[in-house]
Amino acid sequence: MEARKHNEGEANSLLEVSDLSIGINRSDGVLPLTDRVSFHLNQGEVLGLIGESGCGKSITSLAIMGMLPEPGGTLLNGKVQFMGQDIFSLSEARLNQLRGQKISMIFQEPFAAMNPLIRIGDQMLEVFEYHPVDFDKYQKIKDLLDEVGLTDHNRILQSYPHELSGGMLQRIMIAMSLLLDPDLLIADEPTTALDVTVQAQIMNLIVRLKKERKMSVLLISHNISLMAQYTDRICVMYAGQIVESNHTESFLKEPKHPYSKGLMHAIPTLDQQQRKIISIPGQVPEPGKYQQGCRFKSRCIHATDLCLTDPPEKTMAKEGRYRCHY
Ligand SMILES: Nc1ncnc2c1ncn2[C@@H]1O[C@H](COP(=O)(O)OP(=O)(O)OP(=O)(O)O)[C@@H](O)[C@H]1O
Ligand SMILES: [Mg+2]
Repeated sequence: MEARKHNEGEANSLLEVSDLSIGINRSDGVLPLTDRVSFHLNQGEVLGLIGESGCGKSITSLAIMGMLPEPGGTLLNGKVQFMGQDIFSLSEARLNQLRGQKISMIFQEPFAAMNPLIRIGDQMLEVFEYHPVDFDKYQKIKDLLDEVGLTDHNRILQSYPHELSGGMLQRIMIAMSLLLDPDLLIADEPTTALDVTVQAQIMNLIVRLKKERKMSVLLISHNISLMAQYTDRICVMYAGQIVESNHTESFLKEPKHPYSKGLMHAIPTLDQQQRKIISIPGQVPEPGKYQQGCRFKSRCIHATDLCLTDPPEKTMAKEGRYRCHY
C-alpha cells in the first residue's frame, strides 16, 4: 500500500518508506511485525499514521530513525530513504548525526526515553553534545520551554524526571525534540498525557514550525479528531499493513476501507461532553496470528469468502489508495 508510487520521484519528497517489513528473530523463526509498509512525506507536510494499539505504528516510526525492536529486530524487506539516503545502509556514526539534527522523535513514553539519574537541564544540554550550534543553547532551551508552557525554568531544569508529572515530561520531550530545528519530526502520540488546552498549544507550535521552517511531521495517534485537524494526508494502519491512504480532506469525506469507516465513528461530536467512541467489535490480531487474505475480515461486516485471498490495492482520484475486495 502506498500513498503514491514511490518511483515517481517527487522533487520535494523528504522521506520515502517503501515496502518496509520489520520482523523479530525468535528461537522458533522470524515473526513478521509489519508487512510492506509504504508511504512518503513531502517537505513541510504533516502525515498522520493512525490505527489501533499494536498495529505497528511505533515499529514503523522507529525504523525511520534506523532503530529496530530489541532484541532480535530485523529488516525483512524494503527500505527507508531520507533525503535520498538509504537509512539502513548508513553507519551508526552517520545515523547518530541524523538523529536529533535532521530527524527527531517525540517518543511515546517520555519517562522511558529519559535518563532517570540526570537532571532535566543536563539532559537537554546533552542534545547539543554531538551537534555544535551557532546559537545560544541556554536561550533556545528556555524559549522552547516557554513554547510548551513550562515557564518555571529553574525548577524544571534542576529536576530529575521522577520529580515531574507525565504531562510535564511529555512537554519537555517535545521541547527537546525541537532544540536542533529538525527537518523531520516524528511525533508518536505526542499529546496523550496533556489536557486539551495544552494539547492545542503544542499542536499549534508544531504547525507553526511546519509553516515557518518547512518542517515535516509524521504524527502518530489513535485520535482521529487530532488527525482531522492537523494533518495534510492520512495513512491508516491495521495489523502491520497500511490499508488506506489519502489526503485528509478526501479521507474524511469518503473513507473507503471498512476499518477506516469504523475509525471515523470515533470522532467526538461537538455536543458531546465526553468522547464517545463507537468501537469496532473485536481486536487487532497479534503478529503471527494473522489469517490468510484480508487481516480485517474477522471484524468486518462485509467479509465473504473472497476475503480469504489478499485484497487488491485500489486507487482513487489523486493519491488515494485502499486495500479491500469491496
Ligand atoms: N520488541 C518487540 N518484540 C516483539 N514484539 C514486539 C516488539 N515491539 C513491538 N512488538 C509487537 O509489534 C506489534 C506492533 O507494535 P507497535 O508498538 O508498533 O504498535 P503501535 O501501533 O505503536 O501500538 P500503540 O498504539 O499501542 O502504541 C505489537 O503486536 C507488538 O506487541
Ligand atoms: Mg506505539
